[in-house]
Amino acid sequence: MHLKSAIRRSFKKLRESFMPAHAKVLPLHLGAPSYVGDALCSWNKNMAWMNEPRFKKAYDLGMDTGHRFSGSTMTGHDIHLEWRVHTCCWAASHALHLEGDLVECGVNTGIMSRAICDYIDFNSTGRDFYLFDTYLGIPEEQMNKAEIESGRGKQNAKHYGDCFETAKKNFSAYPRAHLVRGKVPETLTEVKIEKVAYLCIDMNIVYPEIAAMEFFWDKLVPGALIVLDDYGWIGHYLQKEAIDEFLAPRNVKALTLPTGQGLIIKP
Ligand SMILES: C[S@@+](CC[C@H](N)C(=O)[O-])C[C@H]1O[C@@H](n2cnc3c(N)ncnc32)[C@H](O)[C@@H]1O
Repeated sequence: MHLKSAIRRSFKKLRESFMPAHAKVLPLHLGAPSYVGDALCSWNKNMAWMNEPRFKKAYDLGMDTGHRFSGSTMTGHDIHLEWRVHTCCWAASHALHLEGDLVECGVNTGIMSRAICDYIDFNSTGRDFYLFDTYLGIPEEQMNKAEIESGRGKQNAKHYGDCFETAKKNFSAYPRAHLVRGKVPETLTEVKIEKVAYLCIDMNIVYPEIAAMEFFWDKLVPGALIVLDDYGWIGHYLQKEAIDEFLAPRNVKALTLPTGQGLIIKP
């Protein structure tokens, strides 16, 4: 109990240390926010992208993959990740101007990647999409002490379970979407991937994420985009630290997006 409140206190302190003084003044004069969801609130932005029929269709398919992120086992539940899905669809579309395949490490039921497949009409691209996951949740033995103490294990039980059959069904219309089942990094060498144009990393803990960065870095073609789902989230600051440490000797920086994602362009 003491440990839990100590962790809560240190997160609160961390959050406060990043909070600018003006953050306490809400921009009420701007009227109603144009976007509220996924711990992001925005005013006065042009949200036309959200109403694009192509995006809406892809987004709904992603949301309808049978995830358990709402905390219930309801399927088809919209947890309002629009802006994050928008980032991934945009990055995957950009990848089509480059040589190389698409990769996601940390797929679960496939919210982001299912949306992408529809958004970019994946079957017409002539690419492969490699989807790495245990399809069983985060391997507890890969968690470090701080990750265990911050509740990743509990998160595992709440959000993840055996979702392989569900994911298989979700991608069944895409013969070149390959579900690679098992633990990263062990599974990374099970398939032959030569060039990568889009990489999304969303495994929620440091160890496999850094292993994936190391494995794919030289395979990423110049201009390839890497989307890091957890990079800017306070509760995932250990992943940010590790990614920054990985990027520093390569003289590359990740861009923190307001969605909590990180974006890297491979030089
Ligand atoms: C937040 S979920 C991914 C959500 C997904 N990107 C989406 O769009 O719905 C994290 C996933 O990472 C997977 N994962 C975590 N560590 C892993 C590892 N070492 N190897 C393979 N999968 C892992 C978990 O099984 C879980 O499905």
